[in-house]
Amino acid sequence: MPHILTAAALPVSDLLRRADTWRVRLAERPAPPVAPKAALIALLFYEPSTRTRAAFEQACVLLGYHPLVITAEASSIAKGESLQDTVRTLNAQGVRAIVIRHPQAGAPIHAAQVSDAPILNAGDGAHEHPTQALLDLYTLWRHYGCPDPDTRWLGGRKVAIIGDIRHSRVARSNLILLTRAGAEVWLCAPPTLLPDTPLPDAHTTTNAEQAIQNADVVMALRLQTERMQQGLLPSLDAYRRDYQIDPERLKLAKPECVVMHPGPIQRGVEITDAVADGAASLILTQVRHGVYVRLAVLEYALGEA
Ligand code: NCD
Repeated sequence: MPHILTAAALPVSDLLRRADTWRVRLAERPAPPVAPKAALIALLFYEPSTRTRAAFEQACVLLGYHPLVITAEASSIAKGESLQDTVRTLNAQGVRAIVIRHPQAGAPIHAAQVSDAPILNAGDGAHEHPTQALLDLYTLWRHYGCPDPDTRWLGGRKVAIIGDIRHSRVARSNLILLTRAGAEVWLCAPPTLLPDTPLPDAHTTTNAEQAIQNADVVMALRLQTERMQQGLLPSLDAYRRDYQIDPERLKLAKPECVVMHPGPIQRGVEITDAVADGAASLILTQVRHGVYVRLAVLEYALGEA
């Protein structure tokens, strides 16, 4: 069964269509019945999470599996067990899949080396967050009227990703899927929050106005203070002044520009209330779409219809 480790390996068109099938199915009243499978899917969350974890839990329940949530403090890793031994243990107990969020880049790849059950990367350090990128792509795909996903349907669209690019797994996974769909991607951050080596296939700038100018999509990112060495961000006020997505800056974008954010948002830092709650915001739509996309990805990883 396939592991889901990187955005590049996702069968994107199939998953977009599957996610959309779930959207339609879950809108049915009464809700479609769930056939219980009496089996577990493990969710190993070694970093905080609200929406990703809730979406995966809901997807497990809707597919008939019981979600077994294990957090770092409440597991044997607090006793010194390695991730690979935890994964071997869960395999021996017959879990059907293992979803992993981990502070270390590459942790899900190590897990996959010892797991028969599919491993799903729910965010590893500053490396990748493939299902977040897929739900962001699904959100744009719906927004633009579900074009043929096998074409370069984002061709001619400018997407500006603004914030802590250096530490963002969301930016890395999004870059892969957005450019593949044909988008022109701009990455924008203060010099200290850009990656040491420029990411491929993207325009990079430290000037937010240049990134937002004429954009179709503006995606704001949180400052990942938990991954930051001290001194990378000398002044929060200067960050707000130069990079915050506010109504004034947004006027530089196309009039029909939409605003995205993977969450959690820090209101008043990377984005203002007026933009986060404004008409152009897709933030809560992204959250809702997260459930459909996790359903699609779990189904695919489990080899279900
Ligand atoms: C992101 C993450 O954890 O990578 N959140 C999410 O999954 N929706 C982004 C973040 O933490 O800033």
